[in-house]
Amino acid sequence: MSVRIAVFASGGGSNLQALIEHFANSDEAMIALVVSDRAEAGALARAQAAKIPAIHIRTRERPIDDVSADMLEVLEDQRIELIALAGYLKLVPPAVTRKFRDRIMNIHPALLPAFGGKGMFGNHVHAAVLSAGCRVTGATVHHVDDRYDEGSIIAQWPVPVLRGDTVASLAARVLRMEHRLYPLAVAALARRLRAPDATSGLADVFRMAASADGIEAEMSSLAGLE
Ligand code: GRF
Repeated sequence: MSVRIAVFASGGGSNLQALIEHFANSDEAMIALVVSDRAEAGALARAQAAKIPAIHIRTRERPIDDVSADMLEVLEDQRIELIALAGYLKLVPPAVTRKFRDRIMNIHPALLPAFGGKGMFGNHVHAAVLSAGCRVTGATVHHVDDRYDEGSIIAQWPVPVLRGDTVASLAARVLRMEHRLYPLAVAALARRLRAPDATSGLADVFRMAASADGIEAEMSSLAGLE
């Protein structure tokens, strides 16, 4: 039976879109619910367009127990087994991370543990990478606990920083990689839920990521750096 995944998102939802497209014809897993803390999030519109149940759960100025009660109720109603955060900017309440221990993950637009933690989101991350003079950045998929960006790392992929990069050009290059890496990592975790002893799990993420079109080209541009 298909693993039922909830995606939590606060923003435009391009990673959500990559997940929707990846799982559209899959027997292994499906995006069964989208949750947002912002009523106007593009992610909610994308969910509606794909006919996926979508819910706005307000977090601002509400007791955390009320927020987690709302989340746990809808997660249970929709029989969710796995949660993928995709640009969800709020801390997930501990009652939810505890219940979904090892079944909740996030994607971060840098190579953690560098450039993570509170306040390190969106363009702040890429601006910090550029001002540190890094030659390589990347994307990290990690488990989620009740602290920002500190859960154990599931998958990472490097992305070169090129001479003349701006925050916008670097963000776009990393985001393209995220759209490839995240669906593969989520699929690997979904597979592992169904077959915990399977030996093919995350190793496949790297094999598949490495063979995906264009990734070698991204990487080989590293060779051109001085
Ligand atoms: C991505 O860069 C992701 O790594 C970070 O938030 C951003 C979300 O972008 N956690 P989108 O809403 O998926 O377009």
